[in-house]
Amino acid sequence: MQQYRNIVILTGAGISAESGVATFRDNGGLWENHRIEEVATPEAFAADPVLVHNFYNMRRAQLPNVDPNPAHFALAKLEAELDGGCTIVTQNVDNLHERAGSQNVIHMHGELSKLRCNVCLTVHDWETDCFIDTPCPACDQNALRPHIVWFGEMPFFMDEIYGLLRSCDLFISIGTSGNVYPAAGFVSEVMRLGNAHTIEVNLEPSEGASLFTECRHGKAGDLLPDLVDEIIMRD
Ligand code: APR
Repeated sequence: MQQYRNIVILTGAGISAESGVATFRDNGGLWENHRIEEVATPEAFAADPVLVHNFYNMRRAQLPNVDPNPAHFALAKLEAELDGGCTIVTQNVDNLHERAGSQNVIHMHGELSKLRCNVCLTVHDWETDCFIDTPCPACDQNALRPHIVWFGEMPFFMDEIYGLLRSCDLFISIGTSGNVYPAAGFVSEVMRLGNAHTIEVNLEPSEGASLFTECRHGKAGDLLPDLVDEIIMRD
């Protein structure tokens, strides 16, 4: 491996699986007994906001009961050792990267520990339950929603992310099935420009595995500490 100066790391549900957070597509398409479309679309929230709030309340309440695993800690070590030039773009809405010590984290699908007001658009840090009659602390309207990007909504920070993809020299995709765009297309964007090394780390070959220059298959918690040490030793 060469020295790397601009590393982009895409993470998905698989990196948090060893922490005990359920992935999306490893359980017959069911997610805590709900089809994803029942709880993760704007239409679902409009039709049954009580169900959707309850679903995200449960997931938010789970956060203090799960801990970062060796894969999260390895990425935090990489960022610290490289002293800049390493960004995590995560599809995950948990806070395990931050709790492992990573600081440069972009949550393209939002965050469980935040709510947004549909009226004044203020984003609030939020650790407790939210109900349909919970007032927005900023404008007092009962219009709070999970700060989560649902299917049919535009992911956050896309301009910034594509800028990073265009200038990276190493792209690593970890624990994502490659089913959901735009994240599933990031490796093609990187390869289109042709200069970066690309690595997939996943339990099994993802939908897009053949697009990567290198694949390492197995548990992220087993594979990442060694991969990170290899990258650091090149520095
Ligand atoms: N280590 C590495 N990979 C793992 C592990 C593990 N311990 N456990 C599971 N995986 C892999 C699975 O094999 C699978 O390919 O992680 C991947 C998880 O895929 P998904 O469940 O589809 O999750 P993800 O790709 O993050 O989903 C993308 O879809 O539902 C939406 O918005 C939601 O952000 C999510 C997006």
